[in-house]
Amino acid sequence: MTSQPAAPLLSSSHLLGIEGLSPAEIIALLDLAQTYVVQGRSGDKKTGLLNGRTLINLFFEASTRTQSSFELAGKRLGADVLNMSVKTSSVSKGETLIDTATTLNAMRPDLLVVRHQDAGAAELLSRKVDCCVINAGDGAHEHPTQALLDALTIRRRLGRFEGLVVAICGDVLHSRVARSNLRLLSMMGARVRLVAPRTLLPAQADRFGVEIFTDMKTGLAGADIVMMLRLQLERMSGAFVPSVREYFRFYGLDRQKLAWAKPGALVMHPGPMNRGVEIASDIADDVEVSLISEQVEMGVAIRMAVLDALSRTFPREGRNT
Ligand code: CP
Repeated sequence: MTSQPAAPLLSSSHLLGIEGLSPAEIIALLDLAQTYVVQGRSGDKKTGLLNGRTLINLFFEASTRTQSSFELAGKRLGADVLNMSVKTSSVSKGETLIDTATTLNAMRPDLLVVRHQDAGAAELLSRKVDCCVINAGDGAHEHPTQALLDALTIRRRLGRFEGLVVAICGDVLHSRVARSNLRLLSMMGARVRLVAPRTLLPAQADRFGVEIFTDMKTGLAGADIVMMLRLQLERMSGAFVPSVREYFRFYGLDRQKLAWAKPGALVMHPGPMNRGVEIASDIADDVEVSLISEQVEMGVAIRMAVLDALSRTFPREGRNT
């Protein structure tokens, strides 16, 4: 068992977005998560740090990585973890998001992890409950723990953020991962580029203060990191791309396009992947260039760090009666 440093004092009792974090808080979370990477690779993965505490996962949208890693993170820290099955809950009888959350809040959880299809849902809940709320993805708004785990993955490989060129490519329009990542990486001194067809860029994308490209060749030139995004077909009400085949031809990452990036460039993808749509299988599975499995591992460590930091800094018993 590794010895844990004191948890960083976060200034907010909720993690709703990268927007609410300072660079010092991000570094502190990454440093704490690094200790959990070491612990996760050891024979003894558990601590009793959150013994007696309760974590509820409330996911209104499908998830493999985020939900399972929050569950594992909570259990490895000793918390009791409840995964609410939204499909079989009273949500199916018409109970609202707020009524669902206040009902669960009455059971006195310490941490509530929420994923919802609407931007702002986690923030709304944070005003209705007594426990710490963690945003596990709200519409196309933010997915802060994804950006933190991506940052941990990058820092472990390249040792810094300052001056790195990170090309975030694909369906930026529908991507909360892109929004959280561009905020975090810009804040930490990386040069962020968005690379996408015009139809998949948000209106006024230039307000993000990053470079915008509509073709992969110039967008990838000199990139240290190529971060591919999933084409989010489930969020598209019309045709945003002519066809999946055309999309792959112009925007899917294959060997030819990767060669436009810096030699030795590393490839990331938050998952789930559409193989052959935004990324070729041989790149996704090439451990020399692909960080995708490492991102998943870092997800558990980051979520342990976030749960640890929030519950140490804002214990529920100190905030309500
Ligand atoms: N990256 C991510 O959020 O994956 P899941 O949808 O599987 O949680």
